[in-house]
Amino acid sequence: MITSAIPKLEPELMDVIRLFSGAEQLNISHEAERDGAYFINRFCVDGQAYEFRHTPQTQDDFFSFEDKSLFKRYAKLALYELLCKHFQTSLPWGSLTGIRPTRLAYTEVESGNPFEPLFNELGVSEENTALVRRVLDGQKGIYGYGKGNCDLFVSLPFCPTKCVYCSFVTAPIDKTRSYLPDYLAALDKELRAAQPLIGNLRSVYIGGGTPFALGVEELRAVFEAVAPLRTNGCEYTVEAGRPDVFTKEKLDLCKEYGVTRICINAQSFCDETLRAIGRSHTAMQVEEAFALAKPYGFTVNCDLIAGLTGESVEEFCKSVDKAISLDPENITVHTLCLKKGARLKEEVSALSGERLGSMIAYSRKALTAAGYEPYYLYRQKYMAGAHENVGWCKKGTASVYNVDVMEECADNLAVGANAVSKKLFLARGTRKSGEEYYKAGRIERMGSPKDIPTYLNKIEKIIAEKEALFTE
Ligand SMILES: C[S@@+](CC[C@H](N)C(=O)[O-])C[C@H]1O[C@@H](n2cnc3c(N)ncnc32)[C@H](O)[C@@H]1O
Ligand code: SF4
Repeated sequence: MITSAIPKLEPELMDVIRLFSGAEQLNISHEAERDGAYFINRFCVDGQAYEFRHTPQTQDDFFSFEDKSLFKRYAKLALYELLCKHFQTSLPWGSLTGIRPTRLAYTEVESGNPFEPLFNELGVSEENTALVRRVLDGQKGIYGYGKGNCDLFVSLPFCPTKCVYCSFVTAPIDKTRSYLPDYLAALDKELRAAQPLIGNLRSVYIGGGTPFALGVEELRAVFEAVAPLRTNGCEYTVEAGRPDVFTKEKLDLCKEYGVTRICINAQSFCDETLRAIGRSHTAMQVEEAFALAKPYGFTVNCDLIAGLTGESVEEFCKSVDKAISLDPENITVHTLCLKKGARLKEEVSALSGERLGSMIAYSRKALTAAGYEPYYLYRQKYMAGAHENVGWCKKGTASVYNVDVMEECADNLAVGANAVSKKLFLARGTRKSGEEYYKAGRIERMGSPKDIPTYLNKIEKIIAEKEALFTE
């Protein structure tokens, strides 16, 4: 619990507090002032006073950031340093709490500074700073702003069964199948209305739950509705998903409609873990799905999660090795993340940061040795051990969709229940050299209702609102 003399800072300071298990129980008060080049932060923790003085190490920051941002930066850093002392620890991302560490790096780079000194100042570990550098390198040729750039997301919140850890709004298809005909009709309506709103389509992504949970003809209806929008042959991902619903017919259909990328997600290759997390498939079925998909030549992504219930470091490392041996072009390593109130929350907080740290470190080493490069990276709130999710790829196979979504550098027109559309309003920036460039300005978001019946009832209104957003 924290009270600040600058109440606007409290939510940001709370984010720092949440990084330290046990810190929410402390009673902290805070005040801040500026003295010339110094930002002074004072805290009182359970009656004991502390003072921190910071000044930007890069003097350019005085000009490129408003005072408000600097006050926030140093208040968070001071609190981070205080809590590190209190709990005798340090964290891999230092005082950074944002979802996208790469955004901050790009802000520095685009204004003509290297980002590394700032990351160092904020307490980010050398390994993570180097990782961000590799991610920025991995995004070369994809990352960038351009007027009219847009990605299309189609949400299919249907799954074979609900996995215990899953934080996505999706339900077992047995319970929602009766909505499917109306849902497919609503998607078709949305996609027809979306066609004139899309400028330069960069990628299509069908995901949300498990698209392959649908039957062949139901999937065909979705692909048919997407086809008139994707006439330029851009990247086309189907998050096919769980191996227990893979069939040759569905893969044939993907090929027929020009899909370029599919996901065959293992999460773990340990059968005991798969049972415990409610996946209802075995590690062998993942291998079979890989074998079935191989002749089609899709770019394949395989998701893994570090920190799953009861899983040892050794078991996780074996899963990484197994995934590598199956040779997918992309491997995404998530760290278990549980929304407030999720069933496994206590287990996550019990998971030692050290064990998770070893899992993450192993995945980085093994994937690098196998020729994968990190190409996108994001963090979430309530993430175990304050770690991150990293998408790895073999050279030349980075997913445009993932880069655009993570870096928010293109519009996202999203259809279906619980789909969040984003419209970018670009701003102009000037580099030190005087060169002008486009950069992120305001982003407007529009989320569709999460539950299917409400989505269906409001479909006309949703279409009208999306039209207004994308023709603004
Ligand atoms: C929207 S899910 C769809 C994937 C597909 N339905 C499947 O399960 O194979 C995308 C990915 O998010 C990851 N994920 C879901 N819930 C998670 C959580 N609580 N913590 C970390 N990663 C999670 C999983 O790796 C999952 O494959
Ligand atoms: S199948 Fe995928 S989307 Fe569905 S509940 Fe499991 S992890 Fe979540």
